[in-house]
Parts: sequence; structure tokens; C-alpha cells
Amino acid sequence: MTEFQDKLEGEKILITGGAGFIGSHVVRLFVNKYPHYQIYNLDVLTYAGNLENLKDIESKSNYTFLKANINNVDEISQLFKKYGFTKIIHLAAESHVDRSISDPLAFVKTNVIGTMNLLNAALQIWNGDFQDKLFYHISTDEVYGTLGETGLFTETTAYDPNSPYSASKASSDHFVRAYGETYGLPYIISNCSNNYGPNQFPEKLIPLFINNIVNKQALPVYGDGKYTRDWLFVEDHAEAIDLAFHKGDDKETYNIGGFNEWQNINLIQLLCSIMDKKLGRKEGDSAKLITYVKDRPGHDKRYAIDARKINKELGWKPSVTFEQGLEKTIDWYLKNEEWLRNVTCGAYRDYYQKQYSR
Ligand code: NAD
Ligand code: TYD
Repeated sequence: MTEFQDKLEGEKILITGGAGFIGSHVVRLFVNKYPHYQIYNLDVLTYAGNLENLKDIESKSNYTFLKANINNVDEISQLFKKYGFTKIIHLAAESHVDRSISDPLAFVKTNVIGTMNLLNAALQIWNGDFQDKLFYHISTDEVYGTLGETGLFTETTAYDPNSPYSASKASSDHFVRAYGETYGLPYIISNCSNNYGPNQFPEKLIPLFINNIVNKQALPVYGDGKYTRDWLFVEDHAEAIDLAFHKGDDKETYNIGGFNEWQNINLIQLLCSIMDKKLGRKEGDSAKLITYVKDRPGHDKRYAIDARKINKELGWKPSVTFEQGLEKTIDWYLKNEEWLRNVTCGAYRDYYQKQYSR
């Protein structure tokens, strides 16, 4: 019997974006830890969604996959009516800053309008009865903009987004909060720092660089490489979500971060050095691949989270050090070369076609 079992018997929990990087870790945690909850993973399977991420739990009796687009109002409203979800953990999003720079509208459609479609569908089926209901919105520290040399983002830091991605996430956060204030919708928002770990699509810094090191390709460092991010192992984020979901207070925001700041270039040097050892290469070989390239426009200088609130109120803290998490991550990518090959050549879509068009 788990800690929360008696409280939430019969829950029908919708997790959106569950085939993506963070979502797949959250779905796995909930399906395995709470066999008495029905978990519905709703995902349209964009380039970033991959059902291979959930192979180990796909046949569990408390798990259902729903292929649907949060941008499609009718589809979403029908699914809410059909399944009567009691709680929602919303992760589905366009998530990559560089893509938001080349196609900002796609981010408004999914991150803003898609979120509103879910909010509206929840309001409609819950129809004013908010007892034991929850809309848990997963957001990012990027909504706070950029820090200078010092200071940390707290839950009361003013929003100041600089990229189309962070502007779209900030907008969706505002709508969630507004629905809470205006219609009484119960909600929680958490804003997390940069995640890393198994199953991350190789467009983000760490998996991209692991893949390039394996293939002896250039490592494109934006600008002077002196940008700082606060890195958190994805399973620690999933644990924080589990805690906030069960123990967080209504209409609260929780900042989640690893207390783990790294300048990009230092992180890349560490990654190169671990990879040299793992691949049996000469120390310094991978670092030779480092190539400084044109900077990202509007590149935020520094992110760093003050995670004291979730630590004090909910008792959360990261379980692994960065070195441990990075080792686990590199080992996973080296062991799962086929996963990496499939997502980089598009074969995972063929997998989906075979699996679901029968
Ligand atoms: P991801 O890009 O790996 O996965 C996103 C998932 O959403 C994919 O499975 C995709 O198919 C699905 N999706 C996209 N558009 C959809 C749509 N219109 N309808 C249904 N499904 C759709 O993203 P991630 O890195 O796992 O991020 C998940 C969430 O966490 C996002 O909301 C993101 O803003 C937030 N977040 C991410 C990080 C990070 O470092 N990756 C940090 C903080 C917060
Ligand atoms: P990224 O993983 O895209 O996350 P975010 O932009 O959401 O923080 O990038 C992390 C940092 O690495 C960021 O400062 C940009 C930088 N970066 C590079 O220098 N080169 C790259 O090829 C990528 C993808 C990122």
C-alpha cells in the first residue's frame, strides 16, 4: 500500500505529453507506483514523442495511450467526456528554444491554445464540482527571463520571458492561474530548471553532444560558451512532480531545481572527459571537437532556481549528484544506440504506424 493509496482510489489521471522526455518518466513513475490509478497518456507523437520510451509499461492494465492533439478542441472535449478524467498533469508542449525561434507560431498553438483547450475541457466536465480535482501545469524556469551574475529565481520573481518558447510557456502559466482566479479551477504550477537524462531528444545540449561525440562530429558551442544553466536529473523532476501532485497546496507554484549551476563550456569539458573514458579514447580527444559557432539570438545568460520552498514544504531534494546523473545518462545513451539511431532517422514513426494502424 503506497502512501497516497487510500486518498485517491479510482483516480483517472490524464498525463499529456507522456511519450516525450520528461512525460515518459512521469508516466512510468505513476503507472508503477500507483497501480490503483488509471493513467491515460495523451500524446500526438510529434518528432519528440516516442512510444519506445514506454515499452516497459505499455501492457500494464492501469495504462492507456490516447493518440490525440491538444490543439484539436473537438477531439479533446470528446476524450474528456468519454474518460471523465479527475486530475490532469499537463506536459505536452513544443519544448525547444531553437525551434521556437524559427517557428514561433507552432509554440503559440500548442503551448498557449493547446493549454487553453485542456483548461476549457476540464471546466466543462467538472462543471463547478472541483472536489478532488486538479489541473497540474508543468512549466519552466525560462519564464523568469535571465539572471545576472548573482541571484536565484524564486516563486515570486516577475515573469520576463525572452524567447518565443518561454513567452508561450509564460502565457500558458498566466492562463492556468487566471482560470484558478476566475473560475475557481484547482491548479498547481511547477517551474523547473534544465532537465537531463535518458530519453531526451538529441536536439538539447547534453544528448546532442553525446551523440556527436560518439560520431566524432563537431560540438557546436553557442557564443562564448559562458552561459549558465541549472541542471536536474529527470527522475528527480518526476519525483518532485509526484510530491507536488499529491501534497502540494491548491493555487501554489513550486520552483524545482538541482542547486547545480554549470557554465556550458565547463559542462561540455566534463562530458568530453567522461566520454573519452567510456569510449576508450585518449583524454582530450573529444574536447578537440568543440567548435564555437554563432550565438543563439536572445540567448539567456543565466538560469538558477531557488528550490527552498519545495524542499521545506514538501521535503523534496535531488537524489543524485550531477556526476552520478551524467554517468547514468551517458551509459543509457551508449547502451541504447538503436534508440538514438531511430530518433535521428525517423524510424520510430514507422514503429508507431505498425503498432497503431493495425
Ligand atoms: P519533449 O519535447 O521531449 O516532449 C513533449 C511531448 O509533447 C512529446 O511527446 C510530443 O509528442 C507531445 N506534444 C507536443 N505537441 C503536442 C500536441 N499538440 N498535442 C499532444 N501532444 C503534443 O518535452 P520535455 O522536455 O519532456 O518537456 C515536457 C514539459 O516540461 C514541457 O511542458 C516543457 O515546457 C517542460 N519543461 C521542460 C524542461 C526541460 O529541460 N526539458 C524543463 C522545465 C520544464
Ligand atoms: P538547451 O539544451 O537547448 O536548453 P535551453 O536553451 O532551454 O536552456 O541549451 C542549453 C544551453 O546550451 C543553452 O545555453 C544553449 C546551449 N547550446 C549550445 O551551446 N549549443 C547547442 O547546440 C545547443 C542545442 C545548446
